[in-house]
Amino acid sequence: MSDIQIDQPDTMLSVRDIFGINSQLKVPAYSYVDEHVPEIDPNYVFNPEVTLALLAGFSRNRRVMVQGLHGTGKSTHIEQIAARLNWPCVRINLDGHISRLDLVGKDTIVIREGKQITEFQEGILPWALRRPTALIFDEFDAGRPEVMFVIQRLLERDGKFTLLDQNEVITPHSQFRLFATANTVGLGNSSGLYHGTQMVNQAQMDRWDIVTNLSYLPAEDELQIIRGKCTNFSREISDTLIMSMLEVAKMTRNSFAAGDISTLMSPRTVISWAENIDIFDDPAVAFRLSFLNKCDEAEQGIIAEFFQRCFDMELSESWASRANELMADGRH
Ligand SMILES: Nc1ncnc2c1ncn2[C@@H]1O[C@H](COP(=O)(O)OP(=O)(O)O)[C@@H](O)[C@H]1O
Ligand SMILES: [Mg+2]
Repeated sequence: MSDIQIDQPDTMLSVRDIFGINSQLKVPAYSYVDEHVPEIDPNYVFNPEVTLALLAGFSRNRRVMVQGLHGTGKSTHIEQIAARLNWPCVRINLDGHISRLDLVGKDTIVIREGKQITEFQEGILPWALRRPTALIFDEFDAGRPEVMFVIQRLLERDGKFTLLDQNEVITPHSQFRLFATANTVGLGNSSGLYHGTQMVNQAQMDRWDIVTNLSYLPAEDELQIIRGKCTNFSREISDTLIMSMLEVAKMTRNSFAAGDISTLMSPRTVISWAENIDIFDDPAVAFRLSFLNKCDEAEQGIIAEFFQRCFDMELSESWASRANELMADGRH
């Protein structure tokens, strides 16, 4: 990764001006836009409570964990605040294939002056620690034990980190910040909703100074987000249509939370549903392609019924064959 040229924040921003929150607070920020600063999504809708918690993370060096169901905007919420503050940001998804060596670093063979030598190449954790970055551990509760073992070392002891192989202790940069997102509150998959999540060691949960919770937005706000994403569509998609789509989404979310179905429509899915309506000119076909086909076959009946209730139309198999036809035509 390329280096970061900034060091200390050089400006103060008004929370009221930037996030539209009724508050006198000012927060430190950078005026230079480093390449590690996330891009601004002008349509992002900030949750005031979560925003204030995250801003405490940035301005007062608190470790903040954001908890909530998937697609509630946890990861983007942190990124969008970093984007407004021009704070470089690095996101590590612990759910992925990240290994201990990716995090810490490893010996690699390099050629120096014609000779092969072994050199230690720092992983993403030491890299971030030495720089003014906001490090996000995404899906914190899905991290594998070998990876959590490394993170445990970071969470202990004032955030100092020992590179065991190198016999070196790294003191974090004064503007290094730590955030995490999680689907559960570290109690594992007790609700049965999140397979693959682990019990997070209580000592590890204790290291988070602030735990804040993000829920889905009110339908009117979600409508605005979807409107914001539909600006380059070739067809007109009415507010009434989007509200019906959001009603279906809400039913899946409630049903998921009650443990009745195992897949829910996140805002991301609703956005791709809208995009597919633009392509197929048919809400039912688009629904099947963007959501229904991802669901467990045993649950498709209930979910199809949600659609039928909100759209007052059948979701028959013939729609699926029409979708195939449309695609085979190569019209899109
Ligand atoms: N408040 C919001 N404003 C704008 N877009 C949002 C909002 N919440 C979620 N989204 C959109 O929904 C998608 C999922 O968000 P993400 O941050 O990945 O969710 P999570 O991390 O909670 O699973 C993203 O494309 C994001 O842009
Ligand atoms: Mg996320």
